[in-house]
Amino acid sequence: MTGQRTFRLGILGSGKGSNAAAIADACACGEIPAQVAVVISDRPDAGILERARERGLEALYLPPGKFRTKLDDAAEAAYIQALQNASVDLVALAGFMRILKGEFLRTFANRVVNIHPALLPAFPGLEAWKQALDYGVKVTGVTVHFVDQGIDTGAIIAQETVPVLPGDTAQTLHGRIQEVERKIYPAAVAALARGEIGVAGRQTVRTQI
Ligand code: GRF
Repeated sequence: MTGQRTFRLGILGSGKGSNAAAIADACACGEIPAQVAVVISDRPDAGILERARERGLEALYLPPGKFRTKLDDAAEAAYIQALQNASVDLVALAGFMRILKGEFLRTFANRVVNIHPALLPAFPGLEAWKQALDYGVKVTGVTVHFVDQGIDTGAIIAQETVPVLPGDTAQTLHGRIQEVERKIYPAAVAALARGEIGVAGRQTVRTQI
């Protein structure tokens, strides 16, 4: 629609960037009514920055500071500033390997989402596909959720199942999970960009049809 400001996304990731690429491509072809305003990584060599640059998107490496699993205060301030400079409406985490807390989540309250490679609340944390395989579940899946102060505990927006097949290895299972991620994450971000998702405590609701 003319005159209407485009919804702006910030994407944070540390890895190869398949989810970021899927979101960017869905924006480019109009499936998501939004534009990727900035892609940020805590690793200078992360594939996600390359995926962003080859699409002509702004790609920033921002050093994470002195900690291994979170941003230090100066880094957190730099991340917030970069996202604010890009005027983002939503921050999508796509394989960002650091826990975000405190000031970051207050600044972007109810505006940070994540994709997790399991059916939460089962198997939070790292290598969730491997946790599922080791546990012996027959069904696992993918969850898109809001980010809160906990680890993979925020209100759930969307989930889809993935079967664990006989003979699956961590690699084959993760591959099938990632195929589902590349569908479900853009679909969830599209619903968020359209303003269709409301959140009240643990519950998310469709606010429009
Ligand atoms: C995905 O499997 C996602 O679920 C997890 O990290 C991985 C990121 O992959 N949080 P990519 O960098 O998007 O390819």
